[in-house]
Amino acid sequence: MKTLGAATTTSSGVVAMTFCVLIFLQLCTGGEAAVVKRFTGLYTGPYFDPTTTTNITTQLGTHAYLPCKVKQLGNKSVSWIRRRDAHILTVDRFTFIADDRFQAFLVDSTDTWTLQVKYVQPRDAGQYECQVSTEPKMSHFITLNVVVPKIEILGESEIYVKTGSTVSLKCVITQSLEEPAYIFWYHDGNRVLEFDRSLININMEPVGTDTTVSTLVIFHAHPEDNGNYTCSPSNLDSASVVLHVLNGEYPAAMQRGKNSASPIPGWSHLSMGLGLAACTPPRFAFAVALSLAILSQLLAT
Ligand SMILES: *[C@@H]1O[C@H](CO)[C@@H](O)[C@H](O)[C@H]1NC(C)=O
Ligand SMILES: *[C@@H]1O[C@H](CO)[C@@H](O)[C@H](O)[C@H]1NC(C)=O
Ligand SMILES: *[C@@H]1O[C@H](CO)[C@@H](O)[C@H](O)[C@H]1NC(C)=O
Repeated sequence: MKTLGAATTTSSGVVAMTFCVLIFLQLCTGGEAAVVKRFTGLYTGPYFDPTTTTNITTQLGTHAYLPCKVKQLGNKSVSWIRRRDAHILTVDRFTFIADDRFQAFLVDSTDTWTLQVKYVQPRDAGQYECQVSTEPKMSHFITLNVVVPKIEILGESEIYVKTGSTVSLKCVITQSLEEPAYIFWYHDGNRVLEFDRSLININMEPVGTDTTVSTLVIFHAHPEDNGNYTCSPSNLDSASVVLHVLNGEYPAAMQRGKNSASPIPGWSHLSMGLGLAACTPPRFAFAVALSLAILSQLLAT
């Protein structure tokens, strides 16, 4: 009985296994057929490339490119729609919004219809829909994030220093995706150029991945340096501080105008400039310039 039972078990096992194999084959071939069918079914019309991005991050003022990768587009149209107000921006190559920052173009080699948004503004942030004119319509959504970098000149917005001191203005740009091409400094609206003034140094350097610092150093500040200093990057808003150079204990505002002939500050600069121990090239040039100025003044009187 035991043996018979075992044999029965074995034979029923074999039968079961055979069934299993048959079912497996059936399922497999059936499955394969289904995959092929689904494949052809899926690919008879346009479809979105599943690798197309859904999230684009760009910096204020730069151009954003929103890709929509559609395979087998055939003769269907591709429209870009702004979700915020359902405004149709483009249909194929045509722009349908009275804002020429929006434009769509096709790159044939990658089957990509790209929406270009020039000079991105904060209000451009949000969702965009790439719609294909199939029936029913097919849509792919992309979110545009707009990064707005921060800019500031460190310290107070009004700076008070004594005549002869060294002033260092640090303009710091943070949270930026792109380093500015340049950062200009303006003094009361006039661009500050290093080679115009021997006592000024301007230096720009990236710090980390999203920060840039531009430093303006004024050696031997004097009342002529008074005024509004503006740090103005190529791609961002500017930041300003007002510098007051105090003569002695008195606020600069109490001094006579810089055009009046008061030799005293000049003499103090000269003596400083002639301090030979510290006769660095800028100081030397400064001393020469001052000596010439004073000489011409003496000759004029
Ligand atoms: C999109 O990208 C931004 C910036 O990189 C990120 O903060 C945000 O979480 C992302 N959103 C999604 C849905 O991935
Ligand atoms: C697009 O192509 C299909 C088949 O090739 C055709 O039947 C249809 O009329 C075409 N549609 C347009 C708008 O040209
Ligand atoms: C400094 O100059 C900038 C640029 O001209 C201007 O926007 C800003 O208002 C000025 N600041 C002061 C305090 O005058």
